[in-house]
Amino acid sequence: SVILVLHGPNLNLLGTREPAIYGHTTLADIHAAMETQARANGVRLESFQSNHEGELIDRVQSAREQGVTFIIINPAAYTHTSVALRDALVAVAIPFIEVHLSNIHSRESFRRHSYFSDIATGVIAGLGAQGYTLALEAALMRLNATT
Ligand code: DQA
Repeated sequence: SVILVLHGPNLNLLGTREPAIYGHTTLADIHAAMETQARANGVRLESFQSNHEGELIDRVQSAREQGVTFIIINPAAYTHTSVALRDALVAVAIPFIEVHLSNIHSRESFRRHSYFSDIATGVIAGLGAQGYTLALEAALMRLNATT
């Protein structure tokens, strides 16, 4: 089975981007930790980051043909704006966990609303890079329970 990890805009800058909010961990570090965890559980992991809304939508659409069974997604700023990315996730009907490095509820008020949370299996926010490994752990448990 394949788990897809999607990262939205500006997450390619992790490590140097507002480290007081997002930490010093890079996207490569996050991917390496998740890769170890996935391999230990015999699951294939694919990661994709884009600064372009349409590319993220295309990746979600191709996930269905590819047999992706679970998605872990940090939509970044698209969390608060993208009906189109939300619609893509509904269209493919692949369960997903929404992850945010920061606690979006303790920041500017415009970050408190997410177009994804009400259709997510679960939401993790405020735990930094650890949020991704916790999300993967939860995804692995759910996949084992259903297959
Ligand atoms: C973020 C929170 C968003 O509000 C912000 O636009 C991001 C990152 C997070 O991981 O904390 O780019 O999704």
